[in-house]
Amino acid sequence: MRSFEIAPSILSADFTRLAEAISDIREGGATVLHVDVMDGHFVPNITIGLPVVKSLRAATDMTIDTHLMISEPGRYAVEFVKAGANMVSVHVEADVHLQRTLTAIREAGAKAGIAINPGTPLVSLEEVLPDADFVLLMSVNPGFGGQKFVPTSLDKLKRLKQMIDDRGLSVRIEIDGGIDASNIAEICEAGAEIVVAGSAVFGGGRPAEAVKELIDRATVWV
Ligand code: DX5
Ligand code: ZN
Repeated sequence: MRSFEIAPSILSADFTRLAEAISDIREGGATVLHVDVMDGHFVPNITIGLPVVKSLRAATDMTIDTHLMISEPGRYAVEFVKAGANMVSVHVEADVHLQRTLTAIREAGAKAGIAINPGTPLVSLEEVLPDADFVLLMSVNPGFGGQKFVPTSLDKLKRLKQMIDDRGLSVRIEIDGGIDASNIAEICEAGAEIVVAGSAVFGGGRPAEAVKELIDRATVWV
C-alpha cells in the first residue's frame, strides 16, 4: 500500500466562498489543499498570493500545498512557509538556485517540492532530487485549470517513479493537471501519491461527491 492523498486545487473554486469549498472537500475526504500561485510572468495568468495563504491557514488545519508558478521563486518561497504553507513547490524552469531554495524551504519547516513542466526533461531533476521531499509533475502546461491531460505525462510519471526507486529515495510524486475520474486509476498505478484535481472537483457543483469518487477510483490501485 502506498500512501495516497487527493489535493483539490482551489483555482477552480469560487474565491468568494473558500471556507465553504474547504468544508466540502474535507467532507469528501481530501487532506491537502492545493493553492496555485501565479505571477503573470512565469505563467500567463495572475491568481493569489501570501495574504490568501495566511487566511487559509487561519481557517483550516488541512495540509496547505502552495504551487509557486512564479519567476525567481527563491525570493518568496520562505515567505509562503511563514504564511502557513506545509508544502511549497518551485519550478525547476524558474530557479537558477534551486538547491538553495529547496534547502531554505526545508529549513523553514515545510516540505520542499520541485515542479516540472511537461516539456522539461526529467534529467533536470537529477542533481537536486535528494534535496526534495516531493516532485510536482505537471501534466498540463501551467497557467490555467480545466486543460487536457498531456498524454506523454503517464510515461514520464513511470520513468520518474523508476528514477526515484532506483536511487532509493523517499521522494513522493504529486501530479497536477487534467486529472479526473477517467484517468486517476492509471495515474495512481503508475506511482503518483498526491493527485491534484481542480475542475474535476469544483466544476460540477458537488465537490464533496467529486472528491469521494476520485478517491474510490484511485484506491483500486493503491
Ligand atoms: C495549472 C494548475 C493546476 C490546476 C489544475 O496551472 O497548476 O493546479 O488548477 O486544474 P485541473 O485539475 O482543472 O487541470
Ligand atoms: Zn497546481
